[in-house]
Amino acid sequence: MAATSACPFHQVLDETLRASAPEPARREFPLMPLGQAVDMGRAADGTPLVDPRIFDSPEFQRNPYPYYRILRDHHPVFHDPLHNCYWVTRYDDITACYVDDEGFNTIPKGMSNGVLGNTQLELSGVEHRRRRNLYGRHLVGQALDRRVPIIERLAEEMVAAWFDDAADLPEGSVVTDPVDPARRSVELGRAFANEFPIRVVCQVLGFPDEARSQFFYWYSSMMNGLGGSETAHLGIRARQDLEDYVAELVAERRVRPTYLYDDAGDPIGMDIISELCHSVVDGDRLSSEEITSNIALVVGGGGETTRGAILNMWYLLLQHRDQFDLVCAQDAWHAAFHETLRHSSSIGGQPRHTSWDVTLHGVTIPAGSLVQMVDFSANHDDRVFADPERFDVFRPDLYTGKIIRSGYDRDGRRSHMAFGVGPHLCPGAWISQQETVLGSRVLAGALASRGLSVAIDVDRMPKDVDGVSLAPIGLGAIRSLWLTIGPEG
Ligand code: HEM
Repeated sequence: MAATSACPFHQVLDETLRASAPEPARREFPLMPLGQAVDMGRAADGTPLVDPRIFDSPEFQRNPYPYYRILRDHHPVFHDPLHNCYWVTRYDDITACYVDDEGFNTIPKGMSNGVLGNTQLELSGVEHRRRRNLYGRHLVGQALDRRVPIIERLAEEMVAAWFDDAADLPEGSVVTDPVDPARRSVELGRAFANEFPIRVVCQVLGFPDEARSQFFYWYSSMMNGLGGSETAHLGIRARQDLEDYVAELVAERRVRPTYLYDDAGDPIGMDIISELCHSVVDGDRLSSEEITSNIALVVGGGGETTRGAILNMWYLLLQHRDQFDLVCAQDAWHAAFHETLRHSSSIGGQPRHTSWDVTLHGVTIPAGSLVQMVDFSANHDDRVFADPERFDVFRPDLYTGKIIRSGYDRDGRRSHMAFGVGPHLCPGAWISQQETVLGSRVLAGALASRGLSVAIDVDRMPKDVDGVSLAPIGLGAIRSLWLTIGPEG
C-alpha cells in the first residue's frame, strides 16, 4: 500500500501502521512448515508478539493454527489496530461473549446486508427473538424427520447420474481415464455438493421448480457479491431481481399458501415462503422485502456452508483412509460431520460489537468496538480438545449429538463452535447435518454396491508449497475435490 494513497481510509491506515511499526505497511511472511509460526518478535519478557499484517498473508491462510495458538496463549484478547478490531480466540471466552448478546451485540454486521438485506443476523435481543422462530421448525424436529426420505431420494437421483449417464453431470465435472475407461475422475463439488444443499433448501422454502436454474444464478451472484468485493454490484442486482420475483410469489401465496408433504403425500405444514407470507410480527405482516431477506439468508446461510462441510469431510476422510473405512463400516457419518466442522469448518467466526466498555483478560474494549470471535481458534483450543490439529472422528472429547443453543459440556465432551452458540446458534445445524450425512451415506453406498473404490485424484488437486503434498485446507473450505473412481483392487 503506497504511503501517498489518495483514499482517506488508506491514509489513516498508513499513518496507523507507520506509528505502530517502522516497517512498510505490507510485509512478506515466509511460508512455514505446517504447524510452525514465523517469529514475529518478542517483548522484553519473552512473550511472542503478533504482527497483525500476518492475518492478510498467504501464510496465515494456509497455516493459521500456530498463530491462533500464540494468540490464545499470550494475547487472548488481541487489539489489532490494522483491522480496527479485537480478536477473541479462547473457547470459553467466545462462548461467554456469544451467550451475552446484550453486551456483545450483532448490530451492524455490515458485510452482508447490502446483498442479503436486513436479516435476523443483524438483530439482537427482543427483536431478534421475535423473528428467529418464524420458520425454524422446518429445519429441525418432526417436520424435518418426515422429509428425510425425500432428501435421501434427491441424493440418490443426483448420485445415480454419476453411474447411469454421466452426460447428465455438469460440464467438466467428470473425466474418463483415457488409458482405463473403467476409471473416471469426478469433481464432487460440481457433480453433487454445490447443488444438493440448495435443492434441499429450495424444497423447504417452497421455491418453484421451474425457477430453480434462475435461482442458482441469483444465488451464486449474491454469494460472490458478499464481503464488499468487486462483484458486490452484481450481487445487489441479483438480490433485486430475486426480490421482484418473490414479490409476485408473495402476492400468490398470501391468497393460496402452498404446503410441504411427506413421502406418503400427507401435508406436513406450509412451506417456509407461505409461512412467512402469513406470519405476523408486531401486528404487521412481513413485507415482500423482508421475505426476500429471509429467503436470501436461509439459502445464503445454508448453501456454501453445507457444500464446504461435504467437501472438507471427504477431503479429510480420504486422507485418513483407516477412518474413512471405519466411518463406512460403522455408519459413523454423524461423528465424521462434527469432527470435520471442529477441525476445518467452512465458517471461521462472527463479528460482534460491544454495547459498553468491557474488560477481558486485562484488556479494556471500548463501547462500540468491533470484536471478532474466532470460532476456528475455539475449535482448536487445547484447553478443550486434546491435540486439536489432529483429525480424529473417534476423539473422546467431542460431543457429536444434536447441537444445542447453550453448548454441550458434559462427561468430558464439548460441542464444537462451528454453528456458534447462544441466541444466534445456527438454526440450520440439524438440516445441514442431515444433508451431509444422508448425501455421503448415499454416495458411499452407491460406490460400495457397485464394487468401486474411491480416492482423491491427487494429480488434479492443488499442492502445498513442496509441490507434492496435498494443499492444507487452511481457513474455510476447499474449492473443489476431484475423486478417482474405479473397480476395486
Ligand atoms: C455446515 C453448515 C453450516 C454452518 C457451519 C453454519 C454456521 C452458522 C453460524 C456460525 C451462525 C451464527 C451466526 C452468528 O452467531 O452471528 C449461523 C446462523 C444462521 N444459519 Fe447457519 N450454518 C450452516 C448451515 C445452515 C443451513 C443449512 C441453514 C438453513 C437452511 C442455515 C441458516 C442460518 C440462519 C438463518 C442463521 C441466522 C441465525 C440467527 O441470527 O438467529 N445455516 N450459521
